[in-house]
Amino acid sequence: MHKISQSAKIVVLISGGGSNLQSIIDACQSQFIKGHIQRVISNRPHAFGLERARQAGIETRCIDHTHFDSRQAFDAELLRIILEVRPDIVVLAGFMRILTAEFVNNFEGKLLNIHPSLLPNYPGLNTHQRAIDDQQKEGGVTVHFVTAELDGGPSILQARVTIESTDDAKSLAAKVLVEEHKIYPQVLSWLADGRLSLIDGDAYFDQRKLPTEGYRDD
Ligand code: GAR
Repeated sequence: MHKISQSAKIVVLISGGGSNLQSIIDACQSQFIKGHIQRVISNRPHAFGLERARQAGIETRCIDHTHFDSRQAFDAELLRIILEVRPDIVVLAGFMRILTAEFVNNFEGKLLNIHPSLLPNYPGLNTHQRAIDDQQKEGGVTVHFVTAELDGGPSILQARVTIESTDDAKSLAAKVLVEEHKIYPQVLSWLADGRLSLIDGDAYFDQRKLPTEGYRDD
C-alpha cells in the first residue's frame, strides 16, 4: 500500500460508549495518527460515542439497524453513507454488527476491527467470561484487518494481560480496554503512514509478512 497522501480520511463505526473512538480522536488531534475523522456512524441512536464525536466537532450519522428489513439493506445504506466521504480507512470501534461480504469487499486492506480476545481464540461475544471459564492465564485484544469471515481477518497487533484468580469479566474487560486504547491508535498510525497492507489474505508490516497472531505488544 502506498502512503496515504497528507492526512488520511477516516470513518469510524460504533455501537456504544466509544472509548476506543475517543482514543482515536485524541490520537488524530495530537497528530500521532496522520489522519482526521470525517464522520462517525452508529447503528444505535443513543450510543454515547456519538456525543463524544459531537464534542470533538466531528460529523455524525445514525443508521438504526432496526429500521431495515435485512442485513443486506442495512449494509447497502451503511456503504452509501461511508462512500460519500471517500475514506482511506474505515474503523470498527465497538461496532456490534456482522457485516456482509458484499460490504466488506469494498474495503480490502482499509477496514480494521478491534476484538477483545487473543484471536483466533474467542471470536464472537462474551470473550472475557469465556476466557475466565476456561481458566486461561492470559487475556487480551487483537486489532485485525476485516475480511468476510467473522473476527477472522489477519491479525496486526495484539496486547496481552494477565488474568488473576480474582478477575471477573468486568475487571478483565477494564484491564483489556486500557490496552485497546494503546494499540488501536498505534495500528491506525501505521496504516495512515502506509506501513501496513493486506496481500492475498495476509497482513504485512513494512513489506514483511506478519505472524498469524500479528505483532505482540510485549
Ligand atoms: C471494546 O472492548 C471492543 O473491543 C469491543 O467492544 C468494546 C467497545 O468499547 N468490540 C467487540 O466486541 C467487537 N466484536 P467502546 O465503545 O468503549 O470502544
